[in-house]
Formats: sequence, C-alpha cells, structure tokens
Amino acid sequence: MKFFVDTADIDAIAELNDLGMVDGVTTNPSIILKSGRNILEVTKEICALVDGPVSAEVVALEADAMIAEGRELAKIAENVTVKLPLTWDGLKACKVLTGEGKMVNVTLCFSANQALLAAKAGATFISPFIGRLDDINLDGMDLIEDIRTIYDNYGYETQILAASIRSVNHIHDCAVVGADVITAPPEIIKKLVSHPLTDQGLEQFMKDWAKTGQSIL
Ligand code: G3P
Repeated sequence: MKFFVDTADIDAIAELNDLGMVDGVTTNPSIILKSGRNILEVTKEICALVDGPVSAEVVALEADAMIAEGRELAKIAENVTVKLPLTWDGLKACKVLTGEGKMVNVTLCFSANQALLAAKAGATFISPFIGRLDDINLDGMDLIEDIRTIYDNYGYETQILAASIRSVNHIHDCAVVGADVITAPPEIIKKLVSHPLTDQGLEQFMKDWAKTGQSIL
C-alpha cells in the first residue's frame, strides 16, 4: 500500500520522505489555506522534494475552467496530479485531462456509484473520504470495501486513494481491505510506530542494560 501525505507542510513532508515513507502528497484548498503559502509555489517545492504524484486541486466549478486550471497546475512539474471534484463537470474535465496524459485524482467521493463514474471517466485516483462519512454516522470503511469489490469485478485500473483518514485504525483497515493508497496527515502516519508494549519492553531492556555495567562503544 502506498503512503501519501495529506499536507503542504514542507518540513513534515521532508522528514517522512527521508525515511522513504512518502509515495506521494495530496493537498486541497483547505490545506493550502493552512499552509499560508501560494499554491503554485508550494506545489512546485513539494514536487521537487517528492518523486511520486503530488495532487493540486482546481477551484473552478465549470468544466472548461477546470480544464484550464488543471493544465496550468500540470505545468508546474511532471509529477503534478490534477485534483478535481466529483461532479459532472469534474468528470468531464477528468476525461479531457487524462486524455492528454495527465494524472487526475477525483476527490470528494462519498458513494460507490460516484467511484464507478470516476473510473469510467478514466481517473488515475479516486479519493473516497472515510472520516467525513464516519462523522455523519455512516461507515467510511464500507465504502472502501465496496469500491475495491466493484473495481476488481470489472478490472478498473483507477487506484483507490483512501482520504479523510483520522486514525491509525483507518490505515490498518485500508490495508486489510486493499486500498491502493492512503493519504493521511503526517502526525497520523508517525503514530503508526507507537505501541505500549514496545515502550515497556524498551524501558526494561534499558534498566537491565544499565545493570550490566557494559557499553558497546
Ligand atoms: O485530502 C482530503 C482529506 O484527506 C480531507 O480530510 O480530515 O478534512 O476530512 P478531512
């Protein structure tokens, strides 16, 4: 499973990237706002840092304008992925931009039927939002499972990019059901390493080591 980082924080991306943990990056207008950076500048910086796909989202709502914005974003670097909302206009823009050989991430997916449409429009990635479905008492993981089944039934190559990840359990469950990619904030990815038994075990080893009176170096 690929790990994308859902942030425009350059330092956080660089820290995980140095460990080989970053297969790509995703941003959206809210993330750009939080970064306080210019979208074109920060996307260029991220693209230079990371080898994998870097999603940058259009903000137009009408297909022709989305296509124009998508082309502009794609000029930033080879690894830009144009992020488009799951609307009819977004699907039209998806068809055109993927036809030009650009990577497209169709976002704000909340149903399996929407994911089916995105695959038919040639999307490179589909972004179902787990956390926001959980927020309204639905089950975001059910959606990931349904999309996996549908895409496998018909051999669609669109990659399932599970988004709106709020916990390490979401990441575990995505890996179990076979999401192709997860995108998560850096702090959630870093939490994957934590286990109380690791901490307890390490504490005991350190105490016992101190009693040996030895040193390695
Ligand atoms: O990339 C979009 C996404 O991951 C949104 O997450 O937590 O704002 O629902 P969240």
